[in-house]
Amino acid sequence: MSPYLRLFYNKWKHLLLIVAITYLCILYLPIFGAQQPLEVTDQSHHLLSAHQQNIQLTGRPEVVVKKSLEEYHGPIIPPSKLTNNQENEKPPESLNDGKFVFKMDPKGGGEPFYIEDIMTSMNTTLKERLTCKNQQNVKPKILLTWNAGHGMENLGGCRDWNCMVVNDKSKLNEADAVMIAFDDPSFKRRDSEQYTIYFSQESPMNAGWHMSQRRDFFNLSLGFRHDTAAASPYGYTVKLAPQSRKSPPLYDSLLVDKKTKGAAWFVSHCGTNSKRENIVAKLQEYFPVDIYGGCRKLKCPRNTPCEDALDTDYHFYIAFENSICKDYITEKLWNQGYRREIIPVVLKRSIVEPFVPPKSFIAVDDFSSIPELANYLKYLMSNKTAYGEFFNWRSDYRVVFLNGANHDALERPWGFCQVCRLMWESPRQRHIIEDFDQWWGRSCEHDGELARKILTGTVENKPALEVNNPNLRDRINNFNKNNP
Ligand SMILES: *[C@@H]1O[C@H](CO)[C@@H](O)[C@H](O)[C@H]1NC(C)=O
Ligand SMILES: *[C@@H]1O[C@H](CO)[C@@H](O)[C@H](O)[C@H]1NC(C)=O
Ligand SMILES: *[C@@H]1O[C@H](CO)[C@@H](O)[C@H](O)[C@H]1NC(C)=O
Repeated sequence: MSPYLRLFYNKWKHLLLIVAITYLCILYLPIFGAQQPLEVTDQSHHLLSAHQQNIQLTGRPEVVVKKSLEEYHGPIIPPSKLTNNQENEKPPESLNDGKFVFKMDPKGGGEPFYIEDIMTSMNTTLKERLTCKNQQNVKPKILLTWNAGHGMENLGGCRDWNCMVVNDKSKLNEADAVMIAFDDPSFKRRDSEQYTIYFSQESPMNAGWHMSQRRDFFNLSLGFRHDTAAASPYGYTVKLAPQSRKSPPLYDSLLVDKKTKGAAWFVSHCGTNSKRENIVAKLQEYFPVDIYGGCRKLKCPRNTPCEDALDTDYHFYIAFENSICKDYITEKLWNQGYRREIIPVVLKRSIVEPFVPPKSFIAVDDFSSIPELANYLKYLMSNKTAYGEFFNWRSDYRVVFLNGANHDALERPWGFCQVCRLMWESPRQRHIIEDFDQWWGRSCEHDGELARKILTGTVENKPALEVNNPNLRDRINNFNKNNP
């Protein structure tokens, strides 16, 4: 066994055992009857399960996750079974003064809302993304997942588009697209009409395999990268259409005004590629940061009420990723960072800025030193008006976290649904990821590079307008003079 696997095994053997037993029970207990296969796929193959497992486990669990995905050979549920009771599911589209507007109706509860745009670096318009040239009553388009898991439920956001996800390799010739997660020499593209799609939800640092031999091999990538038509991020930002915009109050001032604590950091990996732990350690010298997690004294298991302290106690949420890679933003920011009454702090502005609401976060690399960052955070704690300005975006924007539990309209602009849409385009659009090794394998900063620059004050930084504003500088300086 490799050292990683052994470490992983030692740390998580009990959990693994419980998971294995639960899995077997679900699979074989007769009381679950014929519904079982769908349950199983739902539990193990939507994108989030893999995310969550990765979040909760230490080390490099993706090996394990992917192995189980690869070994999966559950039955495929025909679309007719899935569309039962779903007649009214097709989200209506409407026009607003000639502008395309889309109604999002979250299955997981909550009011429907209308959007007019989504924040992405991809240049397809919202209307293009949400318009599929599908035909009914003909053979569905087929996405074959070669060794990348997933199943029909992943098309839940676009059941009306007539596509299928299959995992039977003998369907290679019929497939319009094939998704692969690991190199497999036995896979041969049928012809140039068939899309070959790379699947990875991990950052290139942790995905392990760079496929340097596969230059110009992939057409699309299904993962967090936005610069591919099959992008499938962990969350996204929408611009609300006028009918869904909000007026103040935009945050709960009863909660926010009672906050007393500095920042919270929830962490399971103790040491990371980004060396974010070194930045947090330095920040702690100047600013109170409570650290929760596997290798720390404070504990707060995921999805338990103690997480509410993010709404009630803490002013800032440390949302540092384990690696600094192009477009790599995980649930840390999309879920805890934006779905709480809290301001997220990220490492690098340029990575998140294209995808998140304006003035919604604090970036460490805007500051020339950690003490300067600490002063700014202390100032915001002392001035609740300035603090509250970080929620102004909520009037016009909304952040959607794709938690993978509900395959609904929120997934329609992304991932599987977009592959489905592309499979129906005629003539087939050409998409090629040129020089995959460059595109994927070289899309991360070297380990600890940013942390080193931040800690030595050598970030080539163009401080954000906000922090550089002379009036604000004076205010922060005044505040710090009076509160040494
Ligand atoms: C999007 O960008 C690609 C490449 O830069 C270009 O070929 C394509 O025409 C653009 N599409 C739109 C809708 O602008
Ligand atoms: C508090 O913040 C508000 C809004 O940014 C600003 O107008 C005000 O001058 C600040 N007050 C102090 C005492 O710095
Ligand atoms: C897919 O990629 C291959 C290899 O680069 C290319 O030859 C083919 O034309 C592409 N097919 C489509 C449909 O984009």
